[in-house]
Amino acid sequence: MIPLLHDVLPGMSARPVLDLGCGDGRIMTTMDGPVLGCDLSPTLLAHATDVAPVVRCLLPNLQWLRSGKLGGAYAVLVLEHLPDLNQLFAELARVVDDRGFVAVVANHPAYTPPGAGPIVDAADGEVLWRWADYFTPAAGEEPAGEGSMTFHHRPLGSIIEAASTSGWLLDTLVERPLTIDPDNTLLAGQDRIPRLIGLRWLKSQRPVAE
Ligand SMILES: C[S@@+](CC[C@H](N)C(=O)[O-])C[C@H]1O[C@@H](n2cnc3c(N)ncnc32)[C@H](O)[C@@H]1O
Repeated sequence: MIPLLHDVLPGMSARPVLDLGCGDGRIMTTMDGPVLGCDLSPTLLAHATDVAPVVRCLLPNLQWLRSGKLGGAYAVLVLEHLPDLNQLFAELARVVDDRGFVAVVANHPAYTPPGAGPIVDAADGEVLWRWADYFTPAAGEEPAGEGSMTFHHRPLGSIIEAASTSGWLLDTLVERPLTIDPDNTLLAGQDRIPRLIGLRWLKSQRPVAE
């Protein structure tokens, strides 16, 4: 995930960049410039605060940030948890400055419909994938730690539409497979299909620093 994020991030600006759903802050440790974290989990934020300033928040609400304050924002494995992407991109259009960006790394939407998931063939251990309805937006609960978390599935087009509705211009879209051990014949071929996507939007067509 982190290499893919850095492939879609532009050069860091002098203005702070917001890590949306920063968790324990591990991704902020890989940033070159000023960064600010936000997350809803006080337990994770207690770790992240060792890395950068952090704010407890409930995304997509960014009312706690002044307009035009940020050089950009990024989210890694977080979009799937947010109920309203239209509000998120509208809020980001307000708080990111005019030369700013939004970068996202997410599970490829082909994998996120509720009911999709791995199946292991008991006979030989081969890992197969159970597909589900890609085209219909839906939400489902998945086990997480001792509880569960809500995952929102959206076809790729509806993610892009949510961003463009607030004026974000799609600049980069990268699809990546998982890294598979070439000796693992039970997973053969899975390095030839996308598992993650990385996206970058710009607020204007003026080039950002690379
Ligand atoms: C899969 S973790 C990813 C954490 C981090 N981005 C990383 O890659 O290490 C998802 C994170 O999103 C946070 N999160 C989920 N829903 C949220 C919301 N509505 N507002 C703020 N944070 C949220 C969770 O607390 C968790 O830290």
